[in-house]
Amino acid sequence: MTEPAATPSAIVSPPVAALPKFDPPLALGVLASGSGSNFAAIAQAITNGGLQAEIRVLIYNNPGVKVAERAAELGIPAILLNHRHFRQREDLDREIVRTLQQHGVEWVVMAGWMRIVTPVLLDAYDQRVINIHPSLLPSFPGIHAIEQALAAGVKIAGCTAHIACLKVDSGPILLQAAVPVFPADTPASLHARVQVQEHRILPAAIALAAQQAGQR
Ligand code: GRF
Repeated sequence: MTEPAATPSAIVSPPVAALPKFDPPLALGVLASGSGSNFAAIAQAITNGGLQAEIRVLIYNNPGVKVAERAAELGIPAILLNHRHFRQREDLDREIVRTLQQHGVEWVVMAGWMRIVTPVLLDAYDQRVINIHPSLLPSFPGIHAIEQALAAGVKIAGCTAHIACLKVDSGPILLQAAVPVFPADTPASLHARVQVQEHRILPAAIALAAQQAGQR
C-alpha cells in the first residue's frame, strides 16, 4: 500500500527554527555502531551552515561498518574501538574518553551507538552526551523500538533526541518528532520514515543542548 497522498508532515516539538550560532564551533565526537546515516546528517548540517560545529572524531565499535566509510569520504578521523577487545564496559568507556579528550571533544553524540554506557563516560562528559532513539520516549526504550511500536499498534511513532543518563534511553528530552504509522508498515518502512526525522532533529538537538548549557 502506498502512503496516502495527504500524509501529514511530521510534527517536531519544539519547532525547529534557525539554529543558534557558536563561536568557536562546537567540538563534537560521534559514537556510532552501524550505517551512520545520523552521522552523515550531522556532517551535512555542518556543511550547510545550519549547525556551527566540527566533528573532531568518529568512534565506531564494529569493524567494516558503513559509518567508517562515510567518515573516510568526509575526511573525518575515525577510530575503531572494538568492544569485544575490552573486558568490561568501563574499560571501553575509559578508552572512549581518552580518545575524545585527545581530539578536544566537548560534546558527545551517540548516533546509533549500540552499547550501554557507564559513569566513566557520563561523568567525564556530564550532561554533554546526546542520544538519538527511534521512539517517542518514554515509550519503547531499549532495542527493537520500531518493532515494539508496531507490536503495540501505535498510530503515531517517532524519535527522540535527549541527554543521556545512566538509565538506557532516558534523560532530559531535547527534541521529538512524530510520524504516522500506516497499516501496511513493516519495521523497515516505519524505520525509514522515522529516520528522516532523526536526521532533522539530531543536529538541532545538539545546538539546543549547547545553547541550554550556555544559559545555565
Ligand atoms: C537510529 O535509528 C537510531 O535512532 C538508533 O540506531 C539507528 C542508527 O541509524 N539508535 P544510523 O546508523 O544513524 O543510520
